Amino acid sequence: MRAIEITKPGAPDVLKSCVRPMPVLKEGEVLIKVHAAGVNRPDVIQRLGQYPVPPGASDLPGLEVAGEIIDGDVAGSEFKIGDMVCALVQGGGYAEYCSAPLRQCLPVPAGLTAVEAASLPETFFTVWSNVFDRARLSGRDTLLVQGGTSGIGVTAIQMAKAMGHTVFATAGSDDKCRACEGLGADRAINYRTEDFVAAVKAETDGKGVDVVLDMVGGEYIPREIDCLADDGRLSLIALLGGAKATIDLGQVLRRRLTITGSTLRPRSIAFKADIAANLRKHVWPLIEAGAIKPVIFKVFPLEQAAEAHALMEASTHIGKIMLQVVEGNDEAS
Ligand SMILES: NC(=O)c1ccc[n+]([C@@H]2O[C@H](COP(=O)([O-])OP(=O)(O)OC[C@H]3O[C@@H](n4cnc5c(N)ncnc54)[C@H](OP(=O)(O)O)[C@@H]3O)[C@@H](O)[C@H]2O)c1
Repeated sequence: MRAIEITKPGAPDVLKSCVRPMPVLKEGEVLIKVHAAGVNRPDVIQRLGQYPVPPGASDLPGLEVAGEIIDGDVAGSEFKIGDMVCALVQGGGYAEYCSAPLRQCLPVPAGLTAVEAASLPETFFTVWSNVFDRARLSGRDTLLVQGGTSGIGVTAIQMAKAMGHTVFATAGSDDKCRACEGLGADRAINYRTEDFVAAVKAETDGKGVDVVLDMVGGEYIPREIDCLADDGRLSLIALLGGAKATIDLGQVLRRRLTITGSTLRPRSIAFKADIAANLRKHVWPLIEAGAIKPVIFKVFPLEQAAEAHALMEASTHIGKIMLQVVEGNDEAS
């Protein structure tokens, strides 16, 4: 099969087309003929040699795909051979064929194309797990999303908004801020020209937000603690701004704050299957009703994965960057 491999750690041009053997299915897996695959920042970090591949996973990049189930044991599931699905995978998405645990597959939401469906799994699983499970966003809780126009950010804004929460977001330009508000953020803050702590305090009558979703870390952490409400929760999913921070633990004690974090990729299939079931029940209906929409910034042919990575690293995108594997076959389901 055709695929894209990381020939050595380095710049985007280390991504090269190659021919690889077809994936060998393990128990509980199906074989997907990939129509489209998503590009995510963790793929960039893997390409740079800073994200080790979990044991047993493909060394090919790619954490999410959409396509047709062409082999595997589907007994006892809602799927049959020939169905179009989208799936969270352990790696190997940048290829013509990819294996996926059956329990990490979800149906393509009605009305979505394969490219749109392939844009969902990585960010939707991550946001559900970190915002709704770990940080317990519920009731009338308010949310601050850092990196509002990232793939993760556009998902978090829309998912929280569709569930009735007040959402604030940060982004690095006025255009990106308008995009966040277009997706439903009640107020977007350009962090280059405005202090997000002061802005969040002003928007919440000095109370602060109940949950922060952060991918920056570093010197953002003490500032995020400042803009959390009492009993607030900070959920950390990446360290784009650094892994070290000095914080006032007195605030954690006095105001009963929770600081948590996680990485999705090494978690078990059972853990991811639980998230898949929650997404199917609580989020897929919102997508099918149009309350949450895929946000596709640009689609590249599979062979142009290097260009897709360069675009992601330029950080001018709003939403998702995608790879199309099967051309001319992207009708909405
Ligand atoms: N823990 C997990 O399980 C998990 C799973 C998936 C993704 N992630 C992480 O979540 C983050 C977002 O992923 P994604 O695929 O949505 O990425 P993405 O679309 O490339 O978005 C990253 C955004 O972060 C903002 N940013 C802020 N500070 C930055 C910095 N120092 N360097 C680079 N960008 C910075 C940029 O927007 P501005 O221009 O507005 O600054 C950029 O657009 C990544 O760090 C990724 O590794 C974690």
